[in-house]
Amino acid sequence: MTEGRGFGKVILFGDHFVVYYVPGIASGISDYTTAIIENGERGSGFQLVDKRPQVPGYSEKKKHEMQREFDAIFKEFDISTEKTPLKITLEGNLYCSSGIGASAALAASTCRALARKLGKDLSNEEINRLAYIAEDAGSGNPSGIDNTCSVFGKFITFQKNPTGGPNKIEILSTNQPVEIVMASTGITQETKVVVEDVRKKKEADEKWFDDIMKKYMKIYNEALEAIKQSDWHAVGELMDQNQELLRQITVSCEELENLIKIAKDKGALGAKLTGTGRGGYVVALTPGKELQDNVAKAIEDVGFKVIKTAVGELA
Ligand code: MEV
Repeated sequence: MTEGRGFGKVILFGDHFVVYYVPGIASGISDYTTAIIENGERGSGFQLVDKRPQVPGYSEKKKHEMQREFDAIFKEFDISTEKTPLKITLEGNLYCSSGIGASAALAASTCRALARKLGKDLSNEEINRLAYIAEDAGSGNPSGIDNTCSVFGKFITFQKNPTGGPNKIEILSTNQPVEIVMASTGITQETKVVVEDVRKKKEADEKWFDDIMKKYMKIYNEALEAIKQSDWHAVGELMDQNQELLRQITVSCEELENLIKIAKDKGALGAKLTGTGRGGYVVALTPGKELQDNVAKAIEDVGFKVIKTAVGELA
């Protein structure tokens, strides 16, 4: 029996703006998926046991995508499960829902576990390359953000490639992990729809959008420095500024704003939506267990699901 882990992910700066080829900042989160690989019984082929915590119906909805990921991984490792039956159990504390990098965590954990099973000593770079191939087979045209966060468990900068080639991704090293709270509005939005809506607003008033992009770039540059110095007060302030720009491009909503207000009132250093917006998750920066617990409890008390996790140097 061998095991491997893959982290979840969160976008901290640049949601939506990155669509227009400016850089953003994301990180692995300390919540992870574990893949456990055992020899299957003769003739049983590939058997999956999915014990991951998840939003109701997640695994069923992702069934085909997951199968394509596994097929791609087996192909890369040159494994025929007809000849070598495998039982893979997925577990861990990563709560699978959209926007949290669950499919990349599946890919990264399975690649690590399989490499161990085959006695291959693969570097993080090599595991990342394989996880990207699996993601590509699963959902098509991934940015590479999720698998990189999942494998390295660190802050990363990322920038989409306007020519369609590989995106630019750099790994940032910091001192130690820092606590965050993620809170779910329980509302799911389709990224494509929200991104298109923002595009229409941009095209209707390019000057307005340009001004916002300039403000975003200032925030990004300052955030990069602040993260490198582990200056969490500055990072939190910049997250708030980033959220203000997200409001202006109309991707926030009342439910997100309520969660942000609760987090800020309880002392979070910064709080913003993460990902698509108009629902989905809020990420609040809460260094230290006590602050994290206080913010998480206040949000839970009003009936929302929270994830207490961490970003930065996880591995
Ligand atoms: C969605 O997780 C993040 C967006 O910036 C879209 C994208 O980058 O493709 C909203």
